[in-house]
Amino acid sequence: MRVDAVTLFPAMIDSPLSESIVGRAREEGFLELGFLNPRDFTEDRHRTVDDKPYGGGTGMVMMAEPVYRALKKVRKKNSFVILLTPKGRRFDQPLALELAKKKHLIFICGHYEGIDERVTPLADMELSIGDYVLTGGEPAAVAVIDAVTRLIPGVLKKEDATVNETFTGGLLEAPHYTRPGVWRGEKVPEALLSGNHKLIAEWRSTQARELTGKARPDLPAGGQAKKPARGKKKI
Ligand code: ADE
Repeated sequence: MRVDAVTLFPAMIDSPLSESIVGRAREEGFLELGFLNPRDFTEDRHRTVDDKPYGGGTGMVMMAEPVYRALKKVRKKNSFVILLTPKGRRFDQPLALELAKKKHLIFICGHYEGIDERVTPLADMELSIGDYVLTGGEPAAVAVIDAVTRLIPGVLKKEDATVNETFTGGLLEAPHYTRPGVWRGEKVPEALLSGNHKLIAEWRSTQARELTGKARPDLPAGGQAKKPARGKKKI
């Protein structure tokens, strides 16, 4: 997959995505990541990319033209353009699975107070990673690119690594344990030590449903678990 980011701060994306699994995916050619800095698409002496908002107000607004030119340079017929903004559709695992099928993603990252609204129609989708305001679209792009890259076939070495995981099927994942079997007096659940694959699968499925019901009743499968006993303290 090819991903390009239109950003004034490429290092905010390049650096975190050079480590660990995504870093390796880049080295191995599963992900090709490129950057376009709107500053390189200006024509004035100061390479101006932002200006004061019309109508007054605090902060600066990113100008449309440098972003437009950057996008024009990199956009192809099969590109899918995503504008990162807290106003956008909320990112989730089903959308990550959809985006992982695309050949070319382009992320437009706003900074300062945002981008001139006239850029919005250039994007195929406005996307938010949650109901909070970041300093810019860059950390959001990192989260989305990370979640999408690990779904590209071949990136995770164990083929089934993404099959049973959290949010796939609308459930949180069952808890994991590793050695030692007893840690500071806390034991690993019996079922996991049984060596009985059917029992282990059943235990994990029950745990996943119970956990989802307790921690995330808002998820599609969150209503499937038994309700917690009445009188149990809710924080
Ligand atoms: N830019 C600023 N905040 C954001 C958010 N929550 N999601 C996506 N882009 C953003």
